Amino acid sequence: MKLTLKQCTVRPWRLDDAESVARHANNRKIWLGVRDLFPHPYTIQDAREFLHRATSEQPEMKFCVEVEDAAVGGIGVHPGEDVHRHTATVGYWLGEDFWGRGIMTEAVTAVTDFCFENFPLRRISAEVFANNPASARVLEKAGFSFEGRLKNHVLKDGKLLDSLLYARTK
Ligand SMILES: CC(C)(COP(=O)(O)OP(=O)(O)OC[C@H]1O[C@@H](n2cnc3c(N)ncnc32)[C@H](O)[C@@H]1OP(=O)(O)O)[C@@H](O)C(=O)NCCC(=O)NCCS
Repeated sequence: MKLTLKQCTVRPWRLDDAESVARHANNRKIWLGVRDLFPHPYTIQDAREFLHRATSEQPEMKFCVEVEDAAVGGIGVHPGEDVHRHTATVGYWLGEDFWGRGIMTEAVTAVTDFCFENFPLRRISAEVFANNPASARVLEKAGFSFEGRLKNHVLKDGKLLDSLLYARTK
């Protein structure tokens, strides 16, 4: 899968993305918005391990966001199981140098469109920590609807936070 968009390209990960991933992902501001399984500090070894996992998954559901020929962000689709097998969740991050240009809105929109067109999915959801208005805005602009606030759902950086549930359905 390769999506050539106006501001970025969404493509499969490559093992040689490691250096660029480690450079852009090693940022506490990014870590604050994502799950704790995203390492911080983010080393080249973390990048290599991630890329080995991402490139061996079938079907590949984790994608690189490439800007100006560099791997500067990621977007991953995680399929649901059992009675949730018609659903997926989406997660994403982007290097801080590239924030505020509409890049992730473009990537999230295109990836969710692609997934609805190519997989038998009826729901794609995302959960945003309540202290992350930029990510909530990305989802709103990508056509996701706000479904509710999950109180005290997240413990991040020693703080108990609400999370905001967004979804697009088909
Ligand atoms: C969240 C993130 C992906 C956004 O990527 P991006 O490419 O900068 O997003 P976009 O430029 O497409 O859109 C950002 C929107 O948020 C808005 N925004 C940014 N900071 C904001 C703030 N503090 N309050 C309200 N809105 C804010 C922007 O103005 C923009 O909306 P607009 O187009 O209506 O003006 C990026 O900041 C990131 O990687 N953060 C760290 C990791 C993370 O939080 N991942 C998401 C986990 S759910």
